[in-house]
Amino acid sequence: MIDPDRQDTTEDPTSTAPDEAEEPARMTRRSIRSFVIRNGRLTGAQGEALERLLPTFGLPFVETPIDPEAVFGRRASLWLEIGFGNGDALVAMAAARPDVDFIGCEVHAPGVGHALIGIESQGLSNVRIIQHDAMEVLERMLAPASLTRVLLFFPDPWHKKRHHKRRIVQREFLDTVARALATGGVLHCATDWADYATWMLEHLEPDRRFRNLAGPGRLSPRPAWRTSTRFERRGERLGHEVADLLHERLPDERTGTT
Ligand SMILES: C[S@@+](CC[C@H](N)C(=O)[O-])C[C@H]1O[C@@H](n2cnc3c(N)ncnc32)[C@H](O)[C@@H]1O
Repeated sequence: MIDPDRQDTTEDPTSTAPDEAEEPARMTRRSIRSFVIRNGRLTGAQGEALERLLPTFGLPFVETPIDPEAVFGRRASLWLEIGFGNGDALVAMAAARPDVDFIGCEVHAPGVGHALIGIESQGLSNVRIIQHDAMEVLERMLAPASLTRVLLFFPDPWHKKRHHKRRIVQREFLDTVARALATGGVLHCATDWADYATWMLEHLEPDRRFRNLAGPGRLSPRPAWRTSTRFERRGERLGHEVADLLHERLPDERTGTT
């Protein structure tokens, strides 16, 4: 995770320390990644949580679809949060919606450790963490139409034009989300970068598999239940406007796709 208090529009987030160079290979086989691994600041408590709690609240990355009913011991609506950062929003949502099961995907070890501590302290049984590239999780671990919501809150904006290919919102991302979302399910993105909000709309609006719940070309009001995140608060401190985008997955017969 890129530290929200250090990131600025000129920082090159691709720079990694030499001892971190091997790490992304274990998180993904993809050559273009939407993340950069920074391992530097794992606290003792986070390290301990990773060791002690990941076996209980984590799911190892596997190449075949999981059975959510077997994982959670019930059949419920399943929401996926991609890039949950420190997990505060994920933990708050899971505590507020005990009727929903949540999977959180994050590659940043300190964030995963922090989230695990929150899950344990709140006594949550409706959250599982996958410490792996969300693109591969969507492609391999989640069956078609298995999700009712995909949440993408304040993804790395990758400011420089030559890095735009690393923005997670791309045609390929929408393909994997469209496959994993059930009809009527919702892709919910939020960003505090106006340029990225425009980029998201440019990708989503022409995609006939999705319908903008706010109306064509419009941003949605922030849903009252959406807890503010660390990166959102940092954006607000910088005077950025926050944009929410909610797009519903349409049935295939209405979109002409399979
Ligand atoms: C800018 S931070 C936002 C974190 C959090 N959502 C928030 O609003 O505070 C983006 C996060 O997405 C994670 N990330 C980026 N690409 C990812 C991917 N493909 N799979 C899993 N996590 C990813 C990064 O590690 C980082 O923690």
